[in-house]
Amino acid sequence: MVAETTLSVDDLIAPLFVREDITAPQPIHSLPGVVQHTMDSLIREATELRDLSVPALILFGIPAEKDEIGSGAFDPGGIVQLALGELRENLGDTMVLMADLCVDEYTTHGHCGIVDDLGQVDNDATLEIYQRVALAQAVAGADIVAPSGMMDGQVAAIRAALDTDGFTDTSILAYAAKYASAFYGPFRDAVDVTIADGGDRKGYQQDPRNGREAMEEIALDLAEGADMVMVKPALSYLDIILRARLELNVPIAAYHVSGEYAMLKAAEANGWIDGDAAALEILTSIKRAGADLILTYLTRSIAETLHDHRPALGTGPRAIEPPRAELNPAGDD
Ligand code: PBG
Repeated sequence: MVAETTLSVDDLIAPLFVREDITAPQPIHSLPGVVQHTMDSLIREATELRDLSVPALILFGIPAEKDEIGSGAFDPGGIVQLALGELRENLGDTMVLMADLCVDEYTTHGHCGIVDDLGQVDNDATLEIYQRVALAQAVAGADIVAPSGMMDGQVAAIRAALDTDGFTDTSILAYAAKYASAFYGPFRDAVDVTIADGGDRKGYQQDPRNGREAMEEIALDLAEGADMVMVKPALSYLDIILRARLELNVPIAAYHVSGEYAMLKAAEANGWIDGDAAALEILTSIKRAGADLILTYLTRSIAETLHDHRPALGTGPRAIEPPRAELNPAGDD
């Protein structure tokens, strides 16, 4: 009765991977339970998520061929564009379709932008590519594009391109406070990305030591036209989520990323932790910190749990509180 926080299926966004050159779904070793989908298995999974009342998905593509500029990201025949079209055809308007907007999955060097002769990412040249990606995704049916490359000025560039071509209703979820994190490791397995020459993303992603800077990045993205902002990763950055919540009135998303999921699954597989209880506790904490939306690989299993706990008449909220016993190990309430 007095619970301050409830986790609901309405809060969840499912990240899904679709790969071009496969005929059967491929498991991802470092992300147990997550797969690279074929087009068919993607449609099936999305339909099942929709039937569990999950409101949204975000798509990542793995192309058959990569090149220097990541042209698969904006090719109308690129895997994500094709998938958006198929999803729209199969799901109509029953699910919000988001597309991650970046080129790292599509470039030979694995960076989130165009690389110059010195091997440095060229911020401004990259913006033109992002504009092409945004348009390709909007044309293909994305409701929301989610730029994740952390280039300066990316939101303004994308907004301008979308508006110029009449896509004024296509929203932007900005990966605004995105840290250069060790927790993205399993994701890079999932999308076959290795950054060239042992490189990293510290030139464009944020330093984990900085919190005030995150507020600056978020403010810039909002001023440039972002409709929603994201903090990423989630668990090591709950303070950033809280700060953003205290300062802002826009929707705030948090990405519970691949490495956070992998740690939980590894401990669960070893029998060291009660995975289901820990999952619920983690996502509830992210919500309590102030996130409105959570992108998480746990979406399907949590949605199934919440679905099973729906009131028999189906009229109540699709929400349950975390099991008391788990949150109060002493059991002395
Ligand atoms: C970039 C992107 C990354 C993730 C989402 N979008 C990887 C990166 O910045 O290196 C990571 C998501 C996760 O770890 O679950 N396209």
